[in-house]
Amino acid sequence: MIRDNKELMAEVGRVAEVAGYLWTKGWAERNGGNISVNVTHLMSEDEKALPALAAPIALPAEMAALKGHVFFVTGTGKRMRYVAQAPFENGSLIRISADGMSYEIIAEKPIPPTSELPSHLSMHNYLRSNGRDSRIVLHTHPTDLIGLTHGPKFLDSEYLTRTLWAMIPECRIIVPKGIGIVRYEIPGTMDLARATIKQLEKHDVVFWEKHGILAVGEDLIECFDAIDTLSKSAQIYFSARMAGFEPEGMTDAQLDGLVDAFNL
Ligand code: 13P
Ligand code: ZN
Repeated sequence: MIRDNKELMAEVGRVAEVAGYLWTKGWAERNGGNISVNVTHLMSEDEKALPALAAPIALPAEMAALKGHVFFVTGTGKRMRYVAQAPFENGSLIRISADGMSYEIIAEKPIPPTSELPSHLSMHNYLRSNGRDSRIVLHTHPTDLIGLTHGPKFLDSEYLTRTLWAMIPECRIIVPKGIGIVRYEIPGTMDLARATIKQLEKHDVVFWEKHGILAVGEDLIECFDAIDTLSKSAQIYFSARMAGFEPEGMTDAQLDGLVDAFNL
């Protein structure tokens, strides 16, 4: 019985907690956003071998580094405000097949995973095959950060990163690798997945132009906090602009001072 696994339930509980934050932040209109968590290390051999609840579904590419791995994934079309209340009614555990070419839903109900599964699994596959310990992919739709991607000058990774870093010291500290940018692609496609993986070579946070934000990491709360800190910076930027002035921002020397002080 999957519910007897306390560590697994605690991890799914963190998904519910963060789903609630996404809704209260106003980042999760209707079914906006999705979360996947690699929970393989939390499961016993018997749990990993649970029978499938539905027929296997082919993946668009081989997930060579994820063979036999198990993920909790939010369901397609499901609302974050309901994930927060009932994660197993709005998400499911899926197991990647032994050949990495398909997946099956194994618990608790046959809730089909997010339409962004190609992106999520491609990212998990990339991160694992490059020895990165990031078990989490969080995608959400923060109004202020998406708003920035409508400004052509912010579609330059260095300019965007520098602008948001310069609003508050915490941003430089909490998002040390800066922000990657993926130009507009149709949601849920392998083109979006491939473009995102390219950005993960250097970054843990990626903006999808005119769509949303994505963070990867070892801890779901930390992924949420990274996006929340970027959102705070964007709000400071927009507040200054709305008050009629260009925010001065921290100087290069001030930003560099953080690199030394916090070993960034
Ligand atoms: P899903 O409901 O399929 O997860 O889609 C939401 C979304 O944000 C797509 O990018
Ligand atoms: Zn989205």
